[in-house]
Amino acid sequence: MANTNNKTNTPGEGIPRHIAIILDGNGRWAKKRGLPRTAGHAVGAETFRKIATYCKDIGVDYLTVYAFSTENWKRPPAEVRTIMALLNRYLQEAVDTMERDHIRMKVLGDISALSEEQRALVAKTEEISSHYEGFQANICINYGGRDEILHAARRYAEDFAAGKADALTEERFGGYLYSAGIPDPDLLIRPGGEQRLSNFLLWQCAYAEFYFTDVLWPDFGPEELDRAIEAYRRRDRRYGGVK
Ligand code: FPP
Repeated sequence: MANTNNKTNTPGEGIPRHIAIILDGNGRWAKKRGLPRTAGHAVGAETFRKIATYCKDIGVDYLTVYAFSTENWKRPPAEVRTIMALLNRYLQEAVDTMERDHIRMKVLGDISALSEEQRALVAKTEEISSHYEGFQANICINYGGRDEILHAARRYAEDFAAGKADALTEERFGGYLYSAGIPDPDLLIRPGGEQRLSNFLLWQCAYAEFYFTDVLWPDFGPEELDRAIEAYRRRDRRYGGVK
């Protein structure tokens, strides 16, 4: 299990400003133990809490996690209910504690499909977040990268037709994405053994460094995050140029 006291990274030193993580492997983690998949999600939610705390402690500014995709509705209804209940509990806890801890939180995704209770929690976290600076956790719920780009394109087209938008640039387009105002991820981590993006932050990960590991998300601890950051530090980021 993750142990947040086992810190080997020093705040600020070569630390990526923004880390994005695809939470994967909860189901297999549970299956290996003869438990229902939902037990894997419950432990996965705990792992997220610990990793978010660790990121804040070592000086990461933004942590963005893929918790529920636009495709995840295809899962059995009981599993969807469990994931949503875990997300609601987390959002409620965030509302209760973020003022004390000065943590910012944002939900990225098409929230129109979420329950009224969830939408109210999302609005509350955004309202509280607007008072603070510092570490920000972004939770992607009902999120799809292509969906986000289409949504942004439609909103831009509306503004343009209404004479409210200037000619399109990458920067302006970024302002229409769910992630508006958030810098692009520097490091994208995918635990769980698969090596694909699965429709996550397609626009934003244009220059992200990727780190894949077989460790299943519920087993992912600060030591594994340190390994990912070490790998990131060894990369030579050229953004298409030469050095
Ligand atoms: C992917 O593992 C995981 C999900 C689709 C759900 C992730 C959600 C949580 C951890 C719950 C709450 C999250 C937060 C941020 C509080 P999988 O089920 O696809 O695993 P598998 O590939 O082993 O089947």
